Amino acid sequence: MTAPIINGKQVSEEIRAGIRDQVNELKADGFQPGLAVVLVGEDPASQVYVRNKEKACHDLGFYSEVHRLSAETSQEELLALVDKLNRQDNIHGILVQLPLPKYIEEKAVIDAIAVEKDVDGFHPVNVGNLVIGDDSLLPCTPAGVIELIKRTGIEMAGKHAVVIGRSNIVGKPVSLLLQRENATVTMCHSRTSNMKELALQADILVVAIGRANFIDAGYVKPGAVVIDVGMNRLDNGKLAGDVDFEAVKDVAGPITPVPGGVGPMTITMLMQNTLIAAKRACG
Ligand code: GUN
Repeated sequence: MTAPIINGKQVSEEIRAGIRDQVNELKADGFQPGLAVVLVGEDPASQVYVRNKEKACHDLGFYSEVHRLSAETSQEELLALVDKLNRQDNIHGILVQLPLPKYIEEKAVIDAIAVEKDVDGFHPVNVGNLVIGDDSLLPCTPAGVIELIKRTGIEMAGKHAVVIGRSNIVGKPVSLLLQRENATVTMCHSRTSNMKELALQADILVVAIGRANFIDAGYVKPGAVVIDVGMNRLDNGKLAGDVDFEAVKDVAGPITPVPGGVGPMTITMLMQNTLIAAKRACG
């Protein structure tokens, strides 16, 4: 039996429609949520991501500022901009696009963003709130993963979820969010010796290791939900996930494709976080 494909683009559009309505209501009351995006340098992938964020702001009615800074920008200059945005009343969310040039210390920049405007959910206070289960701005890609699993209608409580990858941006926060949904979570990473054995026990398998087509059918329990967070550019220019979709789709239950699965959700959750931050700011 072929698995149902989870349509991240469609889910994303549904959530965006709700966000657009809420933004319109706020605007009718004279209040417009605003997002500032900062890009340092000319990394081609980052340029595309930033353009897509700018477009999402425009489509959903947010005020947006994009600050494109040269690759020679100093850490002090970047911190001064973050400080200015922290104090700007028309900006409710700040996102500094990563990676930053090598000579800028990422942690210093993330730490400088006001906690209540940290729509990436990367600030240590927001990460801490996530760990202890307090209401916080959740990191976008992990929040998108959970939303997609919820929309399959498959209950997470009591299930065994296996997360492959332990990055700060995806693996670690996804595992915390799955625990919050009462799943039993196992984390695997590059040094896990029995990864296949563990993955085969997963009712829900989330893969974020950054290796194209790494997960084949031999890692997947029949009927398991498979969420592929990978975005790998192949030599032929095509985009590939961490899961070999063609091989796995005949074994898995609901499964995300790449592109069109988790990818479209990330910016949608960013817009949702900006809306949440804006609503908190206007009381
Ligand atoms: N670069 C790649 N993904 C992300 C993200 O989610 N947030 C930021 N700030 N930079 C990124």
